[in-house]
Amino acid sequence: MKKTLCLYYTRTNTTRMAAELLAQHLGADLAEYTDGKDRSGIGGYLVSCIDSLKKTFPQVYIKGTHFPFEYERVIVCMPVWAEGPAVVGKAILEKYRDELPEDVCFVVTHMAGTDYKKKINGLDAYLKAPHTAHLSLRTKNNPKLKYEVRCFAEQIGK
Ligand SMILES: Cc1cc2nc3c(=O)[nH]c(=O)nc-3n(C[C@H](O)[C@H](O)[C@H](O)COP(=O)(O)O)c2cc1C
Repeated sequence: MKKTLCLYYTRTNTTRMAAELLAQHLGADLAEYTDGKDRSGIGGYLVSCIDSLKKTFPQVYIKGTHFPFEYERVIVCMPVWAEGPAVVGKAILEKYRDELPEDVCFVVTHMAGTDYKKKINGLDAYLKAPHTAHLSLRTKNNPKLKYEVRCFAEQIGK
């Protein structure tokens, strides 16, 4: 079994739910990362849109005591903001670039039915080696959400 860490950022708990489910299937550890910014409500939504347009990344950190360098595989989960992976997600990749293992996977959640494969591939710019697998997960009106997470867990294996 691969020692795996599921890392997630969430604003409204959807990505948290997907990451928790995935971690359960894989028997992985779970940790939240954040920029510590209150992004709740419509004000938080608008600030997040504006932050998505900025060229600089926010300061981010991992809550708790799990850190990427302790793992053989890290699955980084993040929502889509403004048609691409959230800036908080990019920031955590940039911060831990040298501490991530070779085996990095992504779970990217979004409301639209779009497959964000191309944008997810763009995250490789923040890694030492290309990511090994990803899930572009539609979260709104998706009755197959839990099934898709389980299939992804089976695809990447324990
Ligand atoms: C600022 C902002 C921009 C968003 N832009 C998109 C988008 O372009 N496409 C999309 O499908 N969903 C978009 N969403 C929706 C989120 O990606 C989706 O609801 C996600 O699952 C939320 O995850 P969370 O609850 O963990 O924060 C956006 C959400 C926010 C807050």
